[in-house]
Amino acid sequence: MSKLITLFLLATLFTSCHAQIPVTTIQLDIEPYTLSEWTSDRQGVANQFLDLIDKLLALKPPLPLRFAIPRWFDGISITRNGVTKYLSQFVQDRAHLMIMDYVNTAQRAINDAQDEIKYGSISGTKSVIGLETMQLPSEPTSTYYGKNASDLESDLQLIDSAFSLNRSSFEALCVHDWKNWKVFTANFTKPIGQLRRDLYVWDNSVILVEEVRKIFMDDLKILNGKLRRVYLEAEYLMYNSGVEFKVWSRSGASFRRFQLGINYKSC
Ligand SMILES: *[C@@H]1O[C@H](CO)[C@@H](O)[C@H](O)[C@H]1NC(C)=O
Ligand SMILES: *[C@@H]1O[C@H](CO)[C@@H](O)[C@H](O)[C@H]1NC(C)=O
Ligand SMILES: *[C@@H]1O[C@H](CO)[C@@H](O)[C@H](O)[C@H]1NC(C)=O
Repeated sequence: MSKLITLFLLATLFTSCHAQIPVTTIQLDIEPYTLSEWTSDRQGVANQFLDLIDKLLALKPPLPLRFAIPRWFDGISITRNGVTKYLSQFVQDRAHLMIMDYVNTAQRAINDAQDEIKYGSISGTKSVIGLETMQLPSEPTSTYYGKNASDLESDLQLIDSAFSLNRSSFEALCVHDWKNWKVFTANFTKPIGQLRRDLYVWDNSVILVEEVRKIFMDDLKILNGKLRRVYLEAEYLMYNSGVEFKVWSRSGASFRRFQLGINYKSC
């Protein structure tokens, strides 16, 4: 796992002013449903996706793995080795989740996440629930874009309260993504509630481009005390690091994005 450890060191260096802050999770956003075979052979592709997860786990990653899955995986029934259950459950049996709960009301977000939160108490794995702020012209109800920052804050609070008795499987809320949330909050000038949330950064220029990194670091100062964890896009680090990327992408499922989750604390 030396390549992965190198990545952690890079990530720690990246947050060098936060040198004591551990990288706490490896998140993968693989998106098997973006393959054309998803339509023609969903069972096959879903099983390849699970095979990939099993291969990743067999590498014994030094940190817990987390998979970003869409909210509707809990409606996709899959049979694997004679066992039939929902795809979300098969993933939860193996790893933690980032539920891309991309809807635009608290009630829908709660409804969509509750099966995963419930099942997490059986599987013993945890879910982060993520909301979207990016403009999605063809799916306007999949994002808070078009609503206002106080709508988002109050809905985050409602979702958190709805699962307040389920902390063993409900880990945190998350906002996707850094740049769009920034636009959404007029450069973070709108009030941000006390609820500490995760930030799905998504934009790899935070790692690759020095000027962007500086802006990001300045934003982290503004968000001081509001964030629990940031997910840094590490796709390019993986490309550059070679070996594991090849292993991880050999399964037949498309390999989309890879993030390192870093628990955030101010300097
Ligand atoms: C949350 O926990 C409460 C109390 O144990 C339980 O009644 C409820 O079903 C749980 N909700 C979910 C979605 O698991
Ligand atoms: C935000 O939008 C809601 C309707 O979704 C409205 O009731 C509320 O007044 C707006 N708040 C602000 C601060 O603009
Ligand atoms: C946010 O900051 C950018 C870059 O400094 C600026 O161009 C933009 O006008 C700002 N937006 C708001 C709403 O303040």
